[in-house]
Amino acid sequence: MRLLVTGGAGFIGSNFVHHVITHTDHHVKVLDKLTYAASREALAGLPVELVVGDVADASTVDALVAETDAVVHFAAESHNDNSLDDPSPFIRTNLLGTFAILEAVRKHDVHLHHVSTDEVYGDLALDDPKRFTEDTPYAPSSPYSASKAGSDHLVRAWVRSFGVRATVSNCSNNYGPWQHVEKFIPRQITNVIDGIRPRVYGDGLNVRDWIHADDHSSAVLRILDAGRIGETYLIGADGERNNLEVVRLILTLMDQPADAFDQVTDRAGHDRRYAIESGKLRAELGWAPRFEDFEQGLADTIEWYRTHEEWWRPHKAATESSYAAKGM
Ligand code: TYD
Repeated sequence: MRLLVTGGAGFIGSNFVHHVITHTDHHVKVLDKLTYAASREALAGLPVELVVGDVADASTVDALVAETDAVVHFAAESHNDNSLDDPSPFIRTNLLGTFAILEAVRKHDVHLHHVSTDEVYGDLALDDPKRFTEDTPYAPSSPYSASKAGSDHLVRAWVRSFGVRATVSNCSNNYGPWQHVEKFIPRQITNVIDGIRPRVYGDGLNVRDWIHADDHSSAVLRILDAGRIGETYLIGADGERNNLEVVRLILTLMDQPADAFDQVTDRAGHDRRYAIESGKLRAELGWAPRFEDFEQGLADTIEWYRTHEEWWRPHKAATESSYAAKGM
């Protein structure tokens, strides 16, 4: 099968490309804009063709979709803090980019899998026994999550109105190799490597439901192979932890005192808790995560950042100075 992976040089997209090359015979082409959050190195050595271009550019997208059998659409601006500073790239890439993909798959009758986030559902209270399901109403909080919510709605409308063959997945927070140092886990790991105290927003009780990027990849591949057209599948690995627990675990795994972190300015509109109920995916498609031990997955990720300093180092100082300017 010829597969077009948008955003395939970013964190989650490149993990997916590695997964596909390892586990299938698919021929993979990547469309990526190579923004600050992507890198050619993430695809180095893989038998993959990288096309550098903008997913919101309809003619580029049309030409690539015309010669593929399926599209897996990861390309997105994804960092909440950046969306609070400047929402415009989020509107362009996440909404216009998805629109361009949808028009092309509609024209060429190509199968689409659209990758999205659990953040479209807004947040849950810490003491709420509920988790997100496929039936939870959309209630996004940030420009980022609102743009992803809008993109999901576009996909469903194109399925219903135009008969586009598409599936949607909404996944919880990913960790693993190739994640930009602006994100929580790699930021704190690389801070500790640099002798900087980790920085936790607000009271640090916010809960995220962590999943290893390779488990996200296996779930997307399973949905691509066997998911029912028009359906949405939630992807999660029962990894709920609050930010204090995660930062203490990072510090402990890196031989530092567990309390050697600072609490800094909170994020505006900071979602309290995300939690995924992934029973539909597990029961219907027989998927299960492989990285069930978060501590081990985190230890592997710490090791990866220790051995890939040449990859993240060029981005570290600028990322920290932009956070410092905001007191974060
Ligand atoms: P992040 O990795 O930005 O993912 P998301 O906003 O999609 O959940 O943040 C994960 C959590 O960590 C979130 O609650 C915000 C918090 N956070 C910090 O406490 N300190 C930090 O330096 C960063 C980047 C995030």
